[in-house]
Amino acid sequence: MTAFKILFFLLVICLCGFNTSNCLDAVKSLILTHRDMVKRAVTDKSGFTTEEATGIVDRHNELRTSEQSSDMLNITWNSALETNAQTHAAKCNFTHSTGEFRSNVGGFSYAGENIYASSGTSLNVTIIVDYWYSEKSDYNYDTNTCTKVCGHYTQVVWANSTAIGCGVQFCPVLDSSSMNNSYFVVCQYGPGY
Ligand SMILES: *[C@@H]1O[C@H](CO)[C@@H](O)[C@H](O)[C@H]1NC(C)=O
Ligand SMILES: *[C@@H]1O[C@H](CO)[C@@H](O)[C@H](O)[C@H]1NC(C)=O
Ligand SMILES: *[C@@H]1O[C@H](CO)[C@@H](O)[C@H](O)[C@H]1NC(C)=O
Ligand SMILES: *[C@@H]1O[C@H](CO)[C@@H](O)[C@H](O)[C@H]1NC(C)=O
Ligand SMILES: *[C@@H]1O[C@H](CO)[C@@H](O)[C@H](O)[C@H]1NC(C)=O
Repeated sequence: MTAFKILFFLLVICLCGFNTSNCLDAVKSLILTHRDMVKRAVTDKSGFTTEEATGIVDRHNELRTSEQSSDMLNITWNSALETNAQTHAAKCNFTHSTGEFRSNVGGFSYAGENIYASSGTSLNVTIIVDYWYSEKSDYNYDTNTCTKVCGHYTQVVWANSTAIGCGVQFCPVLDSSSMNNSYFVVCQYGPGY
């Protein structure tokens, strides 16, 4: 970024010299165009990149392994779950999908689900997975079938899961939440508990 700024400054000097207001206007509009492009790149987001998907899987497996549970299975990415999760994320409605919506997906009779909404436009999959894992807030974290009665439900629920697929949608307005301009993240797990 710093290198970019220096280059940009040099470009301005080269193009404008030191005292050309027309030119400065042109540069200003160039900056605004660039900012628009960056903004659009962010707000168009629909679906995770391969790199992000790998980050989600790796973080899950790190946390699962850290549980040192003898029956803990590692998970892998499942594209059918991903497609289903993405379909739900695209609705920009901060609610769980129905059990019916998660039935018979990707070879699983029933898939579990975690949801998350960012309060800003930064998206770091490690932080999202850690957030779910920490169980800090019931607001963004539950598994639909197992409620707060199940003390260590993350571990139990996730122990038998072997597959995950997630979707993300940038939502200018996110229904059923007080948030706008938010990323809505949905992960589905098979088998679900
Ligand atoms: C599960 O994933 C973790 C983290 O990537 C790795 O250290 C561990 O060896 C894996 N376990 C199995 C059984 O593959
Ligand atoms: C969002 O989901 C809730 C709960 O399912 C539903 O009542 C509401 O109608 C949905 N909103 C929209 C805009 O579909
Ligand atoms: C995401 O957050 C983790 C944990 O805070 C951090 O280690 C990592 O560098 C971040 N990744 C990116 C791409 O910013
Ligand atoms: C996980 O699978 C084992 C073996 O099939 C089963 O005994 C156990 O009840 C399952 N755990 C949950 C939480 O469904
Ligand atoms: C979100 O956007 C909607 C529609 O533009 C608006 O009515 C609402 O007040 C906004 N909510 C917040 C928290 O900004």
